[in-house]
Amino acid sequence: MKSIKEADVSGKRVIVRCDFDVPVNDGKIGDDTRINDSIPTLKYLLGKGAKLFLISKIGRPKFRDPSLSFKLILPKVSEKLGKEVVLKENVEGDSSEEVILLENIRFWPEEKKNDLEFGKKLASFGDIYVNECFATSHRTDASIVGIPKILPAFAGLNLIKEVNELEKILKDHEKPLVAIVGGAKLETKLPAINNLAKVSDRVLVGGRLMFEVERQTLPDNVVIAPDDIDQKDIGPKSVDSFRKIIQEAKTIVWNGPMGVFEEEKYSDGTKQIAEAVALADAHTIIGGGDTVAAVDKYNLLGKIDYVSTGGGAMLDFLSGKKLPGLIALGYYDD
Ligand code: 3PG
Repeated sequence: MKSIKEADVSGKRVIVRCDFDVPVNDGKIGDDTRINDSIPTLKYLLGKGAKLFLISKIGRPKFRDPSLSFKLILPKVSEKLGKEVVLKENVEGDSSEEVILLENIRFWPEEKKNDLEFGKKLASFGDIYVNECFATSHRTDASIVGIPKILPAFAGLNLIKEVNELEKILKDHEKPLVAIVGGAKLETKLPAINNLAKVSDRVLVGGRLMFEVERQTLPDNVVIAPDDIDQKDIGPKSVDSFRKIIQEAKTIVWNGPMGVFEEEKYSDGTKQIAEAVALADAHTIIGGGDTVAAVDKYNLLGKIDYVSTGGGAMLDFLSGKKLPGLIALGYYDD
């Protein structure tokens, strides 16, 4: 995998698949960590005289949903870069501005289908491609795997940092390793739970997932939260049992809140698990937008050893699965 620092980018048009997938509520941006993490690569490229064509997504729009338009984040990206950023709402024609931000890439259904012609259209806006979005590197989207088939592909600075940190855990960690998985996105997380069960001593499952998984089909070391509150949080028995397991752990990986922690009434499970993880005498890694937001809400981020931008991508990577976005960058040997 080649770093962007190895590329000759001066005077080139560089397509950067950024991570601008920040939480949006009532038209306001929440935690903007993910935007911040993309900025050093963008500033580096601008400093070397490159022009930027930025591609990213917010949420999972099923149509051109104005509430997920990049009009919302344009001023923030512009402010952080100290440059005017021009929003491009279609993939037609040519563009020559210094920094262009393409509208939410998930507005085009071809993105998820990794449509070949769409990938070619996207690639026509650049000479070089950079993946600076570890968090979506477990997907086979056109902007993740399609463009790097066409253009020389490089890894962004934050993506390299993520891979280096997580690689250390994958290759060498102290046992017992406990994985905690919550939130929703069953179709992503069920395979991750099964894979994690192979490398972890225990996998603890809470959040929406605890109602969606079929218990009998899971490996024996997967522990589903035994009780709940209104199906919106794990209950006190679950907190006790999870806490005991967490206290014994030497390495902890956590993605996905235990309940709807944004609602006070259903925040206790997530808060208690966040405290248990933060206090554990273990190497702790958390990842994913909601999990990071939850741990931050309880002022515990500083007590976590490594905070990843990736949720599903982090789980897949740590369970030993090859991420398509990293394959496209030539990260794996075979
Ligand atoms: C994430 O937030 O986990 C990534 O951005 C991937 O999002 P997706 O599940 O919509 O592909």
